[in-house]
Amino acid sequence: MFNQEIINKFNAIPSPFYYYDIGVLKQTLQKLKEESDKYGFVVHYALKANANDKNLSIIKSYGLGADCVSGNEIKKAIECNFKPEHIVFAGVGKSDAEINYALDNNIFCFNCESLQELEVINKLAFKKDKIASIALRINPNVNANTHKYITTGLEENKFGINLWELGTLIIALKDLENVKLIGLHFHIGSQIMDLNTFKSLCLRVNEIQNWFSIRKIDIQHINVGGGLGVNYHEPDAYLIPDFASYFKLFKDLLELRPQQIVHFELGRAITAHCGTLISKVLYIKNGVNINFAILDAGMTELIRPALYQAHHKIENLSKIQNSTSQTSIKKYDVVGPICESSDCFGKSVSLPETLRGDIMAIRTSGAYGEVMSSAYNLRDRVKAVYSDEI
Ligand code: LLP
Repeated sequence: MFNQEIINKFNAIPSPFYYYDIGVLKQTLQKLKEESDKYGFVVHYALKANANDKNLSIIKSYGLGADCVSGNEIKKAIECNFKPEHIVFAGVGKSDAEINYALDNNIFCFNCESLQELEVINKLAFKKDKIASIALRINPNVNANTHKYITTGLEENKFGINLWELGTLIIALKDLENVKLIGLHFHIGSQIMDLNTFKSLCLRVNEIQNWFSIRKIDIQHINVGGGLGVNYHEPDAYLIPDFASYFKLFKDLLELRPQQIVHFELGRAITAHCGTLISKVLYIKNGVNINFAILDAGMTELIRPALYQAHHKIENLSKIQNSTSQTSIKKYDVVGPICESSDCFGKSVSLPETLRGDIMAIRTSGAYGEVMSSAYNLRDRVKAVYSDEI
């Protein structure tokens, strides 16, 4: 992904910054489209993973819809030319203002998480003399086997409607005349690497569909959410996620009714690998048993390692040419400048001998990187740089 020409250019750009490889983003989208189109699947891009204007416009140009979790994400999607009729709105705590905004813009569907929320949407839609299309987000109680902070499909999680609540909810729904049930929605978690997990989801969806069929309730679409993981350890070997196996699994296992359409809400799998956090080494500090490489990027730019103990591959780009020669390999704790001990990108990372001024790449940061950055310690907000603009 990085040749000497690009690395030389990085030298001249004030760091830290996010670098987006537009070629990788386009290759990913191309493959995703090819594989999902085979089965007529509809993919909504989850803006929460990366809501950068330029990336969004490219994603939109491949014909994806948008999955939004706030009024501002809906606004951003519309600004980047996503059509309102291709926008779904999810989230466990939609405010009245956000619901009104979505109603005013006639979005495709609200993914609803509770009876209370349905009642509020019904009331607000009534005031506008509109019918809101809704999908029920059902908590399927399927374990995603991922980090506990990004597991969402278990009864202990705050998300979705529990299976045992469905009976009462369906009765209550009959009285809500300004909402129309068009879909069922599921999302069990993120960074799911074992496709068997999605198999369990499909089997549970089939059972739930039968429950609705017995009650003669027509469901136009099934939205199976997102969650497809990426390989953080060997990004170059697995740069494009295995969309072929992923979509085929749903095609093979979901028992669809005639005319029923399957929707997906992928975020990470689309943008993770195209983004890299680029940083320079400020200082090398020798500790008792370990050396510290102190970078000019920290948890303010990329919080995933501090928050989820997430692994990101770290490379010293200044030494990339020498990596096959005799450069000595040393171990470093690669840390940021923030006043928190958790501000650490990697412990005991083997790197070629690293010096002040070296350019460091923290890979696979295009999803949940820039969007989760902060100004803690009154740091400047991180900037973005694109491969086709430098
Ligand atoms: N749909 C819903 C309802 C979601 O909650 C999410 C992610 C997605 C779709 C997209 O999931 P993806 O395809 O990206 O896995 N900040 C965490 C990830 C949080 C995911 C939240 N929900 C991280 O950095 O790992």
